[in-house]
Amino acid sequence: PQRAYVIDEMISAKTIAARVEALAREITDSFAGTDKLVVVGLLRGSFIFIADLVREIGLPVEVDFLEASSYGDEMTSSREVRILKDLRSGIEGRDVLVVEDIVDTGFTLSHVLTILRARGPKRLEVCALLDKPARREVPVRATWTGFEIPDEFVVGYGIDFAQRNRNLPHIGKVRFLE
Ligand code: PRP
Ligand code: MN
Ligand code: MG
Repeated sequence: PQRAYVIDEMISAKTIAARVEALAREITDSFAGTDKLVVVGLLRGSFIFIADLVREIGLPVEVDFLEASSYGDEMTSSREVRILKDLRSGIEGRDVLVVEDIVDTGFTLSHVLTILRARGPKRLEVCALLDKPARREVPVRATWTGFEIPDEFVVGYGIDFAQRNRNLPHIGKVRFLE
């Protein structure tokens, strides 16, 4: 049985949209001249962020997805990152942008980057919407970060708590009752 909780708004949909637009502008400038940017969303948490972000990127883009799960339905990282679904396309010699919803302990991102780097991309960068630096256990950083947040359990805009609340349009924090 699930503990009862409420969700308090932390970052509004409007604030997210403005930040996504700014991130996309920086990414567009940084990869200017590319023949094609391969944008890799990490399933499932990044699905809303990547959808909004690619629509603001002014470059030829290919969208691909990779699923690496560590949390499942738990609240803490298993530390074992499994690849559940690999990319459809090869990335050797390509410009690659990994899109992640949140960097917490860093296990997921660092594992994914190790795998992708071994495939020999020309460039490999990361855009993460949220960063919780206080929780980091593996030294890894996104090239671009939307918001640094305190150590709160967050949901919405793609992020789940036990597979719920991904469809909230804003980022909220979970507050347990009792
Ligand atoms: C969550 C989140 C990040 C990762 C961050 O994914 O979406 O991918 O955990 O945590 P870490 O930095 O401690 O590794 P999760 O494994 O819950 O899968 P999901 O994206 O399908 O929700
Ligand atoms: Mn995830
Ligand atoms: Mg999850």
